[in-house]
Amino acid sequence: MEKIKRIGVLTSGGDCAGLNAVISAVVAAASKKGWEVYGIHNGTDGITETPHSYEVLTVHNFSDSPWPRLSGSYLGSLNKGVKMESLEEMSKRFAQGVKDLGLDAIVVVGGDGSMNIVSNYCKGTDVRVIGIPKTIDNDTPITEFSVGFQSAVQVCTQAVDDLEWTARSHNRALIMEVMGRDAGHLAMHSALAGSADVCLVPEIPYSIDGIINKLKAIKASGRNHAVLVVSEGIKTENGEHLSNKKNMVGEAVYGGIGQYLNNEISSRYKDFQIRVTQLGHIQRSGTPAAFDRLLAAVFGAKAIELLSKGETNKMVAWRDGHVQAYALEDVVKEGTTLLNTHSDFVKAAIDLGIYIGEVK
Ligand code: F6P
Repeated sequence: MEKIKRIGVLTSGGDCAGLNAVISAVVAAASKKGWEVYGIHNGTDGITETPHSYEVLTVHNFSDSPWPRLSGSYLGSLNKGVKMESLEEMSKRFAQGVKDLGLDAIVVVGGDGSMNIVSNYCKGTDVRVIGIPKTIDNDTPITEFSVGFQSAVQVCTQAVDDLEWTARSHNRALIMEVMGRDAGHLAMHSALAGSADVCLVPEIPYSIDGIINKLKAIKASGRNHAVLVVSEGIKTENGEHLSNKKNMVGEAVYGGIGQYLNNEISSRYKDFQIRVTQLGHIQRSGTPAAFDRLLAAVFGAKAIELLSKGETNKMVAWRDGHVQAYALEDVVKEGTTLLNTHSDFVKAAIDLGIYIGEVK
């Protein structure tokens, strides 16, 4: 087994709070082993593009700075994906890049897609790859939590709290649309934490009448305001996605379901004035939550430990109160982790009277 002298660390995919804490942990743990760390700029672009774009990260210039406490990615990220037909060409450029930079290993902070891409790029090279999961959607398979999720839940919960005041002042029902793609984790966690009245997630069918009945019950109880949290990925009442918009790798682009719900509810029920807030990219920012920084610390340390033991093509994961490592291949095979509709969170939402649709 070749001794590691230099590793690269990169962030890939949509950013989230906590990425810099991960980079910091990787730099600290790798430096302790005497390894040099290259921070690769803009995801894999820093390696595949020429001139290569990177900087040397040391405990002195990175960990000992305000960056680990801030959101965004110090290194920049890449959220455009890679067309599979260009895989061969990209792999060649990647292999040349890691050779030019003299990297023995790479830590990829990203979703399972990004980790898989980098691991494919590295096939046929001696470069070892370890993935650290991050996403506000919390849909990375196997790990119970990905870095960034808790911070996003914090932002969304704060938004529910804040909307409640203005809903109360104006006797309105306010719809808040949150991100999460096809997984309802972010909506369910923030609706529950913020005591919202309605929570719609892609995994559970709903009806407009069901929402209206909930609003009527609120009125009948003497309350004149309501907050509804809805996932961007829910479908229309007929089970269709609102738009056919796709990004360059063919994934659906979401957004706008809150306005659809407003139109549908308002056309059948007039007792509440409704307004819509689309929370947007603010969910990917804010002060990184303590739990995300904890994950960053244990994931960063574990990634370096795995590399030092000669491991490759693994993803670190949080499960059953421990940080563990899983074969990237198995992670990719699992696919997206959706909200478990029989989880304690869903059960609690039902028991507390939040309208979440019709759970089967
Ligand atoms: O996957 C993270 C995420 O924030 C999703 O929740 C959201 O649908 C998407 O990225 C937004 O992507 P973009 O930054 O390209 O608008």
